[in-house]
Amino acid sequence: MGLEERRDEEPDVYQPAEDSHLLAEAACERLEGDERVLEVGTGSGYVAGRIADRTDARVIASDLNPHAVRQARGAGVETVRADLVSPFRDATFDAVVFNPPYLPTDPENEWDDWMEHALSGGEDGRAVIDPFLEHVGRVLAPEGSVYLLVSSLTGVDEVVEEAGERGFSAVAVADESFPFETLTVLELLR
Ligand SMILES: C[S@@+](CC[C@H](N)C(=O)[O-])C[C@H]1O[C@@H](n2cnc3c(N)ncnc32)[C@H](O)[C@@H]1O
Repeated sequence: MGLEERRDEEPDVYQPAEDSHLLAEAACERLEGDERVLEVGTGSGYVAGRIADRTDARVIASDLNPHAVRQARGAGVETVRADLVSPFRDATFDAVVFNPPYLPTDPENEWDDWMEHALSGGEDGRAVIDPFLEHVGRVLAPEGSVYLLVSSLTGVDEVVEEAGERGFSAVAVADESFPFETLTVLELLR
């Protein structure tokens, strides 16, 4: 990345990493037309920006972190400050994409800043994934799909089971292994 691009980086924002790249590529490969796409937790705006650049999708993004909203907007991504999917109307999106905070974190080691919101999934790693699965169906169009990045540290089987309880079937559409974890992109369909 060149110095020019780095100037826009906010220190309290998760910057694109292997997980961001895996999710962006998996979503781009599966979007076919001018789908309406929401990226939840956009951070720098990298994933939403890749989708907008590489497909004909109409992309909007959300993040709880105001610094992330500023950086993503600076990168040209239409972004709203929001908790998960709360401000969006029912059945609005053909696809919802999310690289959630997923690291299991001992409550005694929580550190209470915006990077914690980006990384920590609470004690079991699913503190943000579970409410996302509870609410995402509301904003999805009937034939819509969800692309959710999960880690072996989070428990892929547990996420698939929770998704099943919310009416989704799950299939792994991409994965990549690293020394301490395997990242998987799940496609969720109803
Ligand atoms: C692992 S980072 C991913 C950032 C970016 N999408 C990427 O892939 O590079 C998770 C993001 O989710 C955001 N986030 C955490 N909880 C959220 C919530 N309840 N609603 C919206 N965004 C949330 C964080 O602020 C952070 O930007």
